[in-house]
Amino acid sequence: MCGIVGYTGKQEAAPIMLEGLKRLEYRGYDSAGIVVSADGELRLTKAKGFVDDLSKKIDGGRLTPGTTGIGHTRWATHGKPSDENAHPHVSCNGKIALVHNGIIENYQKLREMLISKGIEFKSETDTEVAVNLIQYFYKGDIVKAVSEAALRMEGSYALGIICEDFPDLLLATRKESPLILGIGQDENFLASDVAAVLKYTRDIYYLADDEIAVISPKDIKIYSCDLEVVKKEPSRVDWDISAAEKGGYEHFMFKEIMEQPEAVRKTLSPRIKDGRIILDDIELEPDYIKGLSRIYIVGCGSAYHVGVVAKYNMEKLVRIPVEAVLASEFRYASPLVDASTLVICISQSGTTADTIAAMREAKKLGARVLSIVNVVGSVIASESDYCLYTWAGPEIAVATTKAYSTQLAVTYLIALVLAESRGTITSAAYASLVDGLQALPSALEEALKLKEHIQYLASIYFNKENIFFIGRNIDYALTLEASLKLKEISYIHSDAYAAGELKHGTISLIEEGTLVIAMASYIKLVDKTVSNIVEVKSRGAEILTLTTESGLNHVTHTSDNIITIPDIHEVLLPSLAVVPMQLFAYYVALMRGCSIDKPRNLAKSVTVE
Ligand code: F6R
Repeated sequence: MCGIVGYTGKQEAAPIMLEGLKRLEYRGYDSAGIVVSADGELRLTKAKGFVDDLSKKIDGGRLTPGTTGIGHTRWATHGKPSDENAHPHVSCNGKIALVHNGIIENYQKLREMLISKGIEFKSETDTEVAVNLIQYFYKGDIVKAVSEAALRMEGSYALGIICEDFPDLLLATRKESPLILGIGQDENFLASDVAAVLKYTRDIYYLADDEIAVISPKDIKIYSCDLEVVKKEPSRVDWDISAAEKGGYEHFMFKEIMEQPEAVRKTLSPRIKDGRIILDDIELEPDYIKGLSRIYIVGCGSAYHVGVVAKYNMEKLVRIPVEAVLASEFRYASPLVDASTLVICISQSGTTADTIAAMREAKKLGARVLSIVNVVGSVIASESDYCLYTWAGPEIAVATTKAYSTQLAVTYLIALVLAESRGTITSAAYASLVDGLQALPSALEEALKLKEHIQYLASIYFNKENIFFIGRNIDYALTLEASLKLKEISYIHSDAYAAGELKHGTISLIEEGTLVIAMASYIKLVDKTVSNIVEVKSRGAEILTLTTESGLNHVTHTSDNIITIPDIHEVLLPSLAVVPMQLFAYYVALMRGCSIDKPRNLAKSVTVE
């Protein structure tokens, strides 16, 4: 949460930083700011609101000339969104400016220490503590000052720093928050994410925890925290800028929904060879798999919802206990974890604080951790024992779509590998599921053809203020995601229930005209779900049912409207069924005039507990 950029080179820094910040706005968008070093002074501008508001304030950068600078787009943690609390923050003597992503946990203690040394503070933020701590240690050697400060800060941070005394120098350091360095020709960059610099370079250094980078237009030097030089190989980014742009679509979310067939293809096809699942990016020994006693799947939000689908599927296929647990609950719940436990951590960003904490707890308790991550080189990807990347490409919209779908795809692969190794699947069942997986990308293309029908349904229902989702088994798992997608971008209150549970309380909320969306794709339980549909229909609910071609005649008589997805292997149903639900959320939000890619109060990656 919060995006940072930095530029040093021959060009004007402000327009480049504004452009980079626009690409990072998915990380936070309640205020933005830049500072440019010019004519021996630091020129600072901050604005509450979007990067566009900042851009207007400085006329697209024309009012802040200078060729070195740092910028920030914020998702508030300490202190409300305001000009004052926006970054960059400047040290009390005005010499050093800093942008920060993360949380400095011991900032109160450090603040008191600095106040006792005569340093004055303007804001309540932990970031102002960081910049003043550097000032406190600065006696002419800025790199040493950054290192001294970093050694004393606890928590998570990615920092971009400039100092009046070194007008073309950027400094950067990080711990548990992402930071990349972009290598250009007579210009260099820093950013929270590759997307911010991809227009200028594909050559990147991934800064590791506790490293310090000293960046000038001609050179990037990387040091360890005790100031030993670190030799690092640059990485080349193999996706291009169009992947991080809207490409003619009105919203990133819609573009990312439409990219799902391709993203799932990229995730699956390199891992299916001659009818077999080959996960050659990880090495799970057969004896380890056979000795497994339990699997936990942890994640937050949609990533957790992937875990709930996977729980149903894995227990069915692998025949050992599988529990999906919210990452924020995992470590406080005394989980039954030992060396025979596999903990699967799911995270698009790979930087979600709760999931990182759950991963570390699992490792501490002796489990091996297998992560499913989209962002290459992120904390979770690097710290887990095994990582399966989802290869979805950059996901910019705050509401996840293609990451969810590719995460699901990876869980099918894991389930198949474990089931085969433990001998819990017949070769015929294995082959049939592999066939289903190979057909999944084209089935997703078919599902996307429903978009006009979904748009029509959205036009009927977009004014509803309460919507309930019901389903059983994997359909129940899917209701969790369908409901979250709808409420997070349309602000309609919605809830998800196991269909059989409704009559134990929630049915009292059903009244004339309440919309109930029934997920009834799982043919084995469709008639059971129909019984629950009848219960709410007889109390006045309007019914929109999602089913498959085979389920259609089971639901026709009880539904006001129906969404029909193609038939597919039952394990894979959630992959298809989620598509119309994503589209429904999208069109409803569009018709309600909501800010689709940047819903209120949210940020793409949540790096606080
Ligand atoms: C909802 C959404 C969030 C994320 C959650 C975890 O659309 O995107 O619920 O799924 O914040 O984020 P990652 O996957 O980055 O750990």
